[in-house]
Amino acid sequence: MPEPARERRRVFFALWPDKAALERVDQIGKQLHAMGGGRRMRREGLHITLAFIGEVPAERIDILRQVAEQVVAPAFALRLDRLDCWRHKRIAWAGCSEPPLQLLTLVGQLFERLAGAGLPLEGGDYTAHVTLLRNVHCARCSPLPEFEPIDWAVSEFVLAESTLSPEGARYAVIGRWRLAEDTSASERDGDDRAGNGKAPTV
Ligand code: 2AM
Repeated sequence: MPEPARERRRVFFALWPDKAALERVDQIGKQLHAMGGGRRMRREGLHITLAFIGEVPAERIDILRQVAEQVVAPAFALRLDRLDCWRHKRIAWAGCSEPPLQLLTLVGQLFERLAGAGLPLEGGDYTAHVTLLRNVHCARCSPLPEFEPIDWAVSEFVLAESTLSPEGARYAVIGRWRLAEDTSASERDGDDRAGNGKAPTV
């Protein structure tokens, strides 16, 4: 008899903007949509992927949670100040002209720890981005609009699940982990009280 199909879940680690940042990013998506059409991403689903894992057997989710718990990385400030369009993918996105080092460190740690847990991901160029529109006419978005940079205090990362449907993917946050307090200011002042704050919050 064939074995019953194992449940599989499509998951990724990501940064989810706070409410204020979400609203601003969503507004820019709206503005770009008026220029280039395509399909807007739902406001509540806007995010930056850190590490895309893809479909895994459901029982691996626990391993991913353990991986997340091992991450020790500081909170940081992220400035979304760049808009761009990938013509080959027909995606319009917002990102950073200068990605903070802490973001790249966090991504690096996730990749390293995933590999250590037997879940290696393909490396390659990483461009932190919030996808705003899919199937967009990039040529019509040119010149890309100017916008006031969006500052976002990144204090946690999440594990998210994507459920595909004909209307597009829906995302659900299935785990959250706090980043360590940003000690750069207190270290300068000779204060080492901050903990690593990596306990899961859900
Ligand atoms: P995208 O928005 O640029 O398509 C959920 O699908 C998230 O994972 C999205 O942010 C998506 O990026 C990203 N993603 C999907 N497939 C991916 C892949 N093969 N490699 C890296 N990121 C991927």
